[in-house]
Amino acid sequence: MLYNKIRKGKIQTMKAMIIYYSKTGNTEKLAKRIQKDFHCEMLKVEPEDPYGNYVSSLVRVNKERKNKVPVQSVTPVPDLSAYDTVFIGYPIWYMNPPEFLSDFISRCSLEGKTVIPFATCGLANVSKTLPAIKRACPKSQVVHPFNYGIAKKDNYDDWVHSLKQIN
Ligand SMILES: Cc1cc2nc3c(=O)[nH]c(=O)nc-3n(C[C@H](O)[C@H](O)[C@H](O)COP(=O)(O)O)c2cc1C
Repeated sequence: MLYNKIRKGKIQTMKAMIIYYSKTGNTEKLAKRIQKDFHCEMLKVEPEDPYGNYVSSLVRVNKERKNKVPVQSVTPVPDLSAYDTVFIGYPIWYMNPPEFLSDFISRCSLEGKTVIPFATCGLANVSKTLPAIKRACPKSQVVHPFNYGIAKKDNYDDWVHSLKQIN
């Protein structure tokens, strides 16, 4: 739950939580690594109607986006009052976070908190998804996104190091 970061030359203890979704396990692997390194709690957000295999998910997500079909999640919104930092992890779906996850984030009380996105993907990049994340938590500081894709893998150790030095 707690990790130390250096702020203005002093070590501060921060409290972080991970909120994520993963269909096939890539994002979950990363979430577990972050959990170990930052000693935080994790919350997996699950859609009411789970997504199926790759092809059926492509078809379904495409239809949902086109027809603006809302997808509910079954995960209760957590009390985040004790946390100052929230990691948000997701697979990139058609250049965006899964819609139900963005919706879930928008229902969390993230005002004034530091939000750190991490995404897994093929050829996309987490940077493409930042507008959607910022729309979901407009009063948070969205910083230090991490990308893990085929085209670009950020260096995990460098990222962890930089997070522990946020000013
Ligand atoms: C519905 C759907 C849409 C996807 N869209 C993209 C995309 O636009 N760009 C991309 O690079 N990868 C895309 N992918 C690949 C996933 O982002 C990638 O496999 C991710 O690591 C899966 O994470 P997970 O194992 O945590 O579910 C898509 C996958 C699915 C199922």
